[in-house]
Amino acid sequence: MNANTSRFIKQANLIGGQWVAADSGATIDVMNPATGKAIGTIPKSGKAETARAIEAAAQAFKSWRKTTANERSQKMRKLHDLILANQDALAEILTMEQGKSFTEAKGEVASSAAYILWYAEEARRVYGDVVPSPWADRRIMVTKEPVGVVAAITPWNFPSSMLARKIGPALATGCTVVVKPATQTPYSGLAWGVLCEEAGIPAGVVNILTGSASEIGGELTRNPQVAKLTFTGSTEIGKLLMKQTAGTVKKVSMELGGNAPFIVFDDADLDRAVAGAIAAKFRNSGQTCVCTNRFFVQSKIYSRFVEKFTEAVEQLKVGNGMDSGTQQGPLIDMNAVEKVEEFIADATKKGGRIVTGGKRHALGGSYFEPTVIADAKPRMRFTKEEIFGPVAPVYKFKSEEDVIEQANNTEYGLACYFYTQDLGRAFRVMEGLKYGLVGVNEGLISTVEAPFGGLKESGLGKEGGHQGIEDYLDTKYVCIGGLGL
Ligand code: SIN
Repeated sequence: MNANTSRFIKQANLIGGQWVAADSGATIDVMNPATGKAIGTIPKSGKAETARAIEAAAQAFKSWRKTTANERSQKMRKLHDLILANQDALAEILTMEQGKSFTEAKGEVASSAAYILWYAEEARRVYGDVVPSPWADRRIMVTKEPVGVVAAITPWNFPSSMLARKIGPALATGCTVVVKPATQTPYSGLAWGVLCEEAGIPAGVVNILTGSASEIGGELTRNPQVAKLTFTGSTEIGKLLMKQTAGTVKKVSMELGGNAPFIVFDDADLDRAVAGAIAAKFRNSGQTCVCTNRFFVQSKIYSRFVEKFTEAVEQLKVGNGMDSGTQQGPLIDMNAVEKVEEFIADATKKGGRIVTGGKRHALGGSYFEPTVIADAKPRMRFTKEEIFGPVAPVYKFKSEEDVIEQANNTEYGLACYFYTQDLGRAFRVMEGLKYGLVGVNEGLISTVEAPFGGLKESGLGKEGGHQGIEDYLDTKYVCIGGLGL
C-alpha cells in the first residue's frame, strides 16, 4: 500500500470536523476477506457519539443551507475531481475491505464520482413553482428547501457508491449528514471524510461514525433533530428502521432487498442473453441487490442456454481482487458462505442438478465456486429468498403469461431482466413485470442518469435521475396576501 492509499485509511470517527476515537476507546477489527488478515481497526461508537454527530450536523446546517446552489455545486465539482484523481487508492481500499476485483472497485469509484457530478449539476436546478392564484389580491409560490439533517446507513456491498448516492443529493440541496458505513467495509466510507475536507466542505456538514449498528441506528432513528433517514440494506432491517423512525415521523428512503428474475424467451439472442446473465449474476460475486436470483428459460432454448451459460461461468477467474485478471473475489465472510451452502443443499435435496461449482473454492477462506443449478423448482428456497452469492438457479417455463406470474410471485420488486427479439412481447412483458428497474436485452443497467429504486418490499424512493433529489427537499406552499391588487 503506498502513502496515497494509506492517507485515506482513517481509523477514527469524523464528528464536527474532528477525527475522534469512541468515548470508551473500544475498537473493532476490520478484516480483508481475501486474506483473512486484519487491515486495521475502527472506533466502536454508540449513542453518545451519535448524538454529538447529529448536534454537529444540526449546527452546520444553519450556515450550509444558506450557501448558494452555485457555491455547493463548485465544491461538489472539486469533490468529483478529487475522487477521480485518487481513483486507484480508493479502489485499492475498497478491494481490500470488500473483496471485489480491482477492476470492479475502480468502476464503483468512477460511479461515485459520476453521482457527485450529477448532483453538482442538479443542485442548480431545484425549481419551485408560481401557481395561478384563485384570489385577485394574493399570489401563490411553492418553494423547495433542504429537509435538514440526514442520517445515512450504508451496506458493505457498494461501500463507496452507496454513500455517493446519499451524500450527493444531501450536499446539493444544502442538507447536512451523519453517515454510518457498514462495519465490514468502513474505510471506503471514512475516506469520504478526507475527500470532503480536501474539497473544502465545511466542518460538520458530513459526519461519519462507526460502531454498534443498534446503538448508532437507534439514535439516528429516534433523535428529533434528524429529519430524514436514507438506508440501503436488507428488507428486514429496513422495516425495523422504518418502525423506529415512526416516533418522530421522519422522511425515509429505503433501498432494500431484491429477488431479480432473468427471463430468456425462445426467440432471444442466446449469446447476448448469456453475456447479460454473467453480468447480472456474478458481478460482485453475486452480492448486489440487483443480481439475478432466478433464471427463467423457455423450454425450447433451455438446454442450449444451460450449456452455454455453464461454459461462460466456468471461464470466470476466481481470486484475490488485487490479482490481475480476477473476476470473482471472495464472499464478504464465512456467514455468506454458509448461507450459500444452505441454498445449494436445499436445492439438491429437492431435485436440483449442480451443473458446475457447488462448493467452497480450493483457494479456501470465503472463496466460493461460481455455481449453476439446473432443474430449479418453485419449492426451492431461492424461489423466495435472496441468495446474495454466486449461485445461479435455472427454472424452465412454457408460456409468457406463466413466466410473468412466476416472476412477480415475490414480495420484492427491485430489478428484473428479460431477453426477447419480439417488440410486441418486449412491451407486454415490460408492462407486466412489477419491478422498479427493467433490463430489456441488457443485464447491467444502473446509471446515475436513471432513477434507481424498488417497488413493493424492495423499497421507497429513488436514487439518481432527476427524481433522486426530491427526497432531500421539503415542499413549502407560500400564500402572499394583502397585496391590494
Ligand atoms: C445494489 O444496490 O446492490 C446495486 C447497485 C447498482 O447496481 O448500482
